[in-house]
Amino acid sequence: MKMENLSYREAVEHLASIAGLSVPKSVSFDGEIGRLRKDIYEMNRIAARYFHDILMSDKGKPALDYLLNRGLSMKTIVNFGLGASPPEGWYNLINHLRSKGYNNNQIRQSGLASTSDKGMFDRFRNRVMFPIIDHRNNVIGFGGRTMENDPAKYLNTSENVAFKKGSNLYALNFAKSTKTGSLILCEGYMDVISLHQAGFNSAVATLGTALTLDQARLMKRMTDNVIICYDSDEAGRNATKRAIDILKSVDLNVRVITVTGGKDPDEFIKTHGAQKFAALLTGSVNHIDYRLDEVKRKYNTDIDNEKVSCINEMLGVLSDITNKVEIEIYIDKISKMLNVSTENLLAELNSVKKKINRIRENKQKKEELENLKGMNDKINPQRSKYLKASRAEEDIISILINYPEKYKKVLENVNETDFVTDFNRSVFVVLCEKLEQNTNSNVLHTLSALFDSDKIGKIMSYISSLEAIEVNDDKIKQIATTLKEEKIKATMNGLSINDNDFSSRLDDLRKNRKRDK
Ligand code: CTP
Ligand code: MN
Repeated sequence: MKMENLSYREAVEHLASIAGLSVPKSVSFDGEIGRLRKDIYEMNRIAARYFHDILMSDKGKPALDYLLNRGLSMKTIVNFGLGASPPEGWYNLINHLRSKGYNNNQIRQSGLASTSDKGMFDRFRNRVMFPIIDHRNNVIGFGGRTMENDPAKYLNTSENVAFKKGSNLYALNFAKSTKTGSLILCEGYMDVISLHQAGFNSAVATLGTALTLDQARLMKRMTDNVIICYDSDEAGRNATKRAIDILKSVDLNVRVITVTGGKDPDEFIKTHGAQKFAALLTGSVNHIDYRLDEVKRKYNTDIDNEKVSCINEMLGVLSDITNKVEIEIYIDKISKMLNVSTENLLAELNSVKKKINRIRENKQKKEELENLKGMNDKINPQRSKYLKASRAEEDIISILINYPEKYKKVLENVNETDFVTDFNRSVFVVLCEKLEQNTNSNVLHTLSALFDSDKIGKIMSYISSLEAIEVNDDKIKQIATTLKEEKIKATMNGLSINDNDFSSRLDDLRKNRKRDK
């Protein structure tokens, strides 16, 4: 299930279900975010059309020449909807979108415009434009390549409710219907386009970031087989190793192509042609072979102790394999590669496996323990240290989300300086900014535009714990008092005052307060 294709209510329900939570009925949903997303798709579609028309006009001649010089055919250019952003002017697209009835706010939210103190201007200027289309054929954003030596080779649409770089893949709209039974994963837009032009229509690419688990899951929905085809330089090889782990973690069969002679697949095809690339595909190695080779190249195995380390690391690669035949095959390979007997290798493999399992078990135990202690909160790492404060903060956040009409009441009692943990404070600040403008607005929508899904999941978990308490003005006061007390405690802790000292000081404070009344 893809978050961005869901209605807002569905998205929250989905997030809540992942976290094992129920969604409180009191949360109001108005589909605001869904509408915004649709508007952005539509503005992007208009922009894509606009950029394409410019590419085909006089103004687009340099961009068209650039693409033709890089070996793309007219058919490919049209097929991928490539375009050009205007070589001159700062407001061309903005004016065009206005003429189609979109207001400044909508244009800003689309990410097609950037903002400075002087106002909005076109984000993309004088670049070759690559529309990015999701697998449902929505134009979700753009990559814009400089034709000159701009240090920012590519400028992408910035993240917004419609464009999540980590959850989409370039050209998946075409590749999803491939009949080859596998996807070819590349690094660059140009690689993908070149491969498609050469007939390899199952090529996709990440959108300028490292491969994510979301993207791996997206691929898993379309196929069981992925062939990684990254650049052959060191950065590409490191990225390959990370990608193998991510793809394996969702149970994909992974093979790897090493592009030799030509830095990336695009250059390779240009230099050696489609047939040679097909040969590379046929010769792609499975991820174990790839990793064994990668280990081998790290060591000088003519030196004895390096050879020992190399063998150990190679056996580590095999430690996950459960199939006995497979183990035999790879042990045989290592034996031939390094000239060691298979008996010794097998015996070593067992001890390496034991060692790895022990490390894993220890790690798991530690994690479980930390989870138990609530220590492993990655989103709000300060939570475990300031548990009571965090709980109060979370109640306040939930109140703002569930009972926006209580906003003024909350502000009478708390402000951002009362917050102890940074994450909760940042959520509080965002909520206040939004509610200050309008207490009827859907604050969840604002949150989801600003925080990633892990953080949203975290915030959702606050809401469901609030369900249990009744919210009235007294309750708000009570929570605020707790938070203020915890804040003092935390601040004093920072001054290294021990608990006894602290509680006596707190008592003093309370007495003084009563006296003041
Ligand atoms: N990228 C980016 N921003 C940059 C450089 C790269 O977002 N400044 C992303 C783009 O998605 C790009 C990918 O990383 O497609 C791979 O980068 P690279 O290999 O440099 O790009 P190519 O697509 O090969 O582009 P070209 O062949 O035109 O240099
Ligand atoms: Mn390239």
